[in-house]
Amino acid sequence: MNSAQWFERAEKVIPGGVNSPVRAFNGVGGTPVYFKSGKGAKVQTEDGTELIDFCGSWGPLILGHAREEIVDVVAKTAADGLTFGANTAKEAEFAELLTTLIPEMDMVRLVSSGTEAVMTAVRLARGITGRRKIIKFDGCYHGHSDYLLVASGSGLLTGGTSSSAGVSPAATEEVYVAPYNDLAAVQEILKANGDEIAAVIVEPIAGNMGLVEPAEGFLEGLRAATAEAGALLIFDEVINGFRLGPTTFGHSAGINADITTLGKIIGGGMPIGAIGGSKAIMSHLAPLGPVYQAGTLSGNPVAVAAGMKTLELLRDESPYLKVEILGKRLADGINRIAEEKGLDLHCAQKGGMFTPFFRKEAVHNLDDSKACDQKAHAAYFHHMLDHGFYTPPSGFEVAFVSAAHTANHIAAFLAAFEKLDS
Ligand SMILES: Cc1ncc(COP(=O)(O)O)c(C=O)c1O
Repeated sequence: MNSAQWFERAEKVIPGGVNSPVRAFNGVGGTPVYFKSGKGAKVQTEDGTELIDFCGSWGPLILGHAREEIVDVVAKTAADGLTFGANTAKEAEFAELLTTLIPEMDMVRLVSSGTEAVMTAVRLARGITGRRKIIKFDGCYHGHSDYLLVASGSGLLTGGTSSSAGVSPAATEEVYVAPYNDLAAVQEILKANGDEIAAVIVEPIAGNMGLVEPAEGFLEGLRAATAEAGALLIFDEVINGFRLGPTTFGHSAGINADITTLGKIIGGGMPIGAIGGSKAIMSHLAPLGPVYQAGTLSGNPVAVAAGMKTLELLRDESPYLKVEILGKRLADGINRIAEEKGLDLHCAQKGGMFTPFFRKEAVHNLDDSKACDQKAHAAYFHHMLDHGFYTPPSGFEVAFVSAAHTANHIAAFLAAFEKLDS
């Protein structure tokens, strides 16, 4: 059976044939690829083809697929029991490691996904401040909890509108949506409604409208504005955490958010999420404090073992410079070829993260990203797929170079990209 046949079967029993919408290829058209196995930078498909993977399961696989040490520790841990719903020594060790690598965090609570981490972070901020509303940024994705499936509303000072059916208007009314990188917009909302705002939540480097870096002073401005308004600052580092160095982006940048959420890399490919902050903040969580949070599989031993091994390998091997060099070579190559061929695009890149935006002008926010040519992105996606490269099947995502990629993979990618029709 090939991918098309599996998809036909899946569509009968899984809504849209997929367990997460973007996998349906709606953004690029065509039939989704079915993956069979992965090792290092490569995946094998049900079509009998081999692809070099630049999606990396949307971010967790900074060390590549099926890294031996991680697979070994997962197998060993699983053999000792898949879940206990009780405490394990590994959880304490993992929390110790996280709080050592992220000195601003005194305490950390483990959950099973990034969505759960953010949901808890927002509840925690509400519980601490006694305020109801939050500010988020257009184009930042924070998982699929009700309060965060919000698009910009009719005006800055009205609550947002739902970007999904089934979300109560009461939930979205409590969320203001500002353009990313627009500090003045946040200051305006805080000025008008500051005493109602529990938190401002932001991806410090945005990865869900393609890769968009914070403008100079944007994050520092958010830190100052939230502190002045008595609101908490939440850095959603589900993508950013451990991406550019063995710590959070906030720590590297010297900007101390009140609450940080983590996921993806810290689970090494297993389901995990985390919320961390100072002891004073984290002590509001049950059972110490009144903000409830729980989970049957929270702190799952297999996920913790995979995450712990991943962070240890990142700390000990520090592949970050290599990943940065490869990422830059890839983006520089794309930009050079685009220039030579007169293609209307530019590639944004930071460390191993990159997004080819199909317009020449820089992208600072969601409106800019929406102005890119999505048809041209779809043509690029399928061209690269046909040549053996898997990139995110959406123009609003970030692609990833991992430590398992080599200079040869990058050269091969660029050789294929060079053949893209102008
Ligand atoms: C910044 C950010 N926050 C939260 C999430 C949600 O994480 P999960 O998919 O593990 O629920 C994502 C997922 O891509 C994300 O990119």
